[in-house]
Amino acid sequence: MDIRLLRPSDIPQIQQTNITNLPENYFCKYYMYHALSWPQLSYVAVDVSRPKKSPYDAPKVVGYVLAKMEEDPQDGVQHGHITSLSVMRTHRRLGLAEKLMRQSQRAMYETYSAQYVSLHVRVSNVAARSLYEVTLGFKNNGTEAGYYADGEDAFSMRKDLDYLREEALEEESEEEGEGSVGRDEGGEVGSAGRAGEGAERLRKVRVGRQLGVGDLVERSG
Ligand code: ACO
Repeated sequence: MDIRLLRPSDIPQIQQTNITNLPENYFCKYYMYHALSWPQLSYVAVDVSRPKKSPYDAPKVVGYVLAKMEEDPQDGVQHGHITSLSVMRTHRRLGLAEKLMRQSQRAMYETYSAQYVSLHVRVSNVAARSLYEVTLGFKNNGTEAGYYADGEDAFSMRKDLDYLREEALEEESEEEGEGSVGRDEGGEVGSAGRAGEGAERLRKVRVGRQLGVGDLVERSG
């Protein structure tokens, strides 16, 4: 199973998966709008192990998460939104939805500095509510009466993404710790070592986090 970014060419298969699993369906151009406006945020789960029927037989999309940034947030806080999530029945309870959601949340934080992620879920959707509340730690932010076309209420849920900032800080301090051990090893000792104390020191800094690159370079400072 492969989890990767959604490509515009996946859209017909995603639309088919959506129609099979959910009553909330969208025009092709709405998927395209997500893919072109926020290309970092939507992911697909692809069954790469499925035997090919012909050389042109594309691997099957068995799940997707369609996500965006809220364009005009009412609270003025930069945040992401899960438009739609589903996994084919044949591939459920394998952890795919959880992985798709976590990938999208991380991309919202790293690419757009999203402070939280929001979504709507039917009050009767036991499986999805369990995924959001128990597995992923979303909090119920209130009920929106008659939100769905058939009149069912929605729970409006959200999850704070601050934990990703804390994780990044922890990673950085671990890497800095490793860096200082590395410099001590094999260094000169005694007066020769002290002579170098005033010399330029190197520290590791993280660059490109906003782009999700997360590479390390050495800078003086
Ligand atoms: N009953 C209870 N809890 C469940 C169920 C279920 N049927 N399915 C998943 N969960 C919970 C469990 O806590 C599970 O952890 P566990 O397997 O360790 O017990 C956890 O979610 C993670 O499960 P995943 O395997 O990652 O979930 P899966 O890949 O099966 O997909 C999903 C879950 C997306 C809800 C799937 O059942 C589905 O596609 N349903 C139909 C479409 C749908 O309801 N989509 C969400 C609509 S809301 C929206 O789109 C914003």
